Amino acid sequence: MRMFLLAPLPFLAVFACGTPAPMTPADMAVSVDLATSSPDLATSSPDLATSSDAMMVDPQRPPTSSAMALEDWLKTGAYKAWACESAMHAARPGSAHAANRICSNDLLSKSTSGEYPVGAASVKELFNGAGAIIGYAVGLRLKAGPSDDSWFWYERVNTTTYANGPGVALCANCHRNAPRDFIYTQVKP
Ligand code: HEC
Repeated sequence: MRMFLLAPLPFLAVFACGTPAPMTPADMAVSVDLATSSPDLATSSPDLATSSDAMMVDPQRPPTSSAMALEDWLKTGAYKAWACESAMHAARPGSAHAANRICSNDLLSKSTSGEYPVGAASVKELFNGAGAIIGYAVGLRLKAGPSDDSWFWYERVNTTTYANGPGVALCANCHRNAPRDFIYTQVKP
């Protein structure tokens, strides 16, 4: 886990902070602590204020600030350590999606009943016929309650973005009919 957290740091230093200055060892120590600590601590730290996208290394929470931040986070592969289906499968009945593989984060996979907790998230890898990843679908519970905008949705296939925001109707219109909350497939640990 520590290795994973360290790996994206040089990238963050250049792109996320918006400054080309390389991180000093002291900065890196701060970032590692932030990445493993709570969001509340993170926002109260002046160091993080200058690198708010450091949140994108939170391995449990896909960032929703921009499509680019989310795609960068997906590229880290953090979600692959979640509870994931063992292999890709054809779209299930009722699905609007291509062949896929779903991963559930800790809050989603360990939740036992009712509404999923705020911060519960799913990542779905989307595949073409040759088994190559051509995009991702992401769901994240943003706030409590039954309204459509309590869930953030993102989907990009090849170069087309189909959703990027809370309550996107294209997704919510179907997902609100899921057997539990807005989620069809809960992958358990
Ligand atoms: C017509 C219904 C339908 C629509 C529209 C739809 N989905 Fe889904 N989605 C499903 C079904 C069914 C599954 C589970 C089975 C599968 O994908 O094979 C699923 C799975 C998912 C998952 C994995 C978590 C879960 O609920 O199982 C995510 C994330 C997801 N969809 C995101 C989206 C996004 C983002 C959109 C909008 C761009 C969208 N979906 C539109 C039916 C739909």
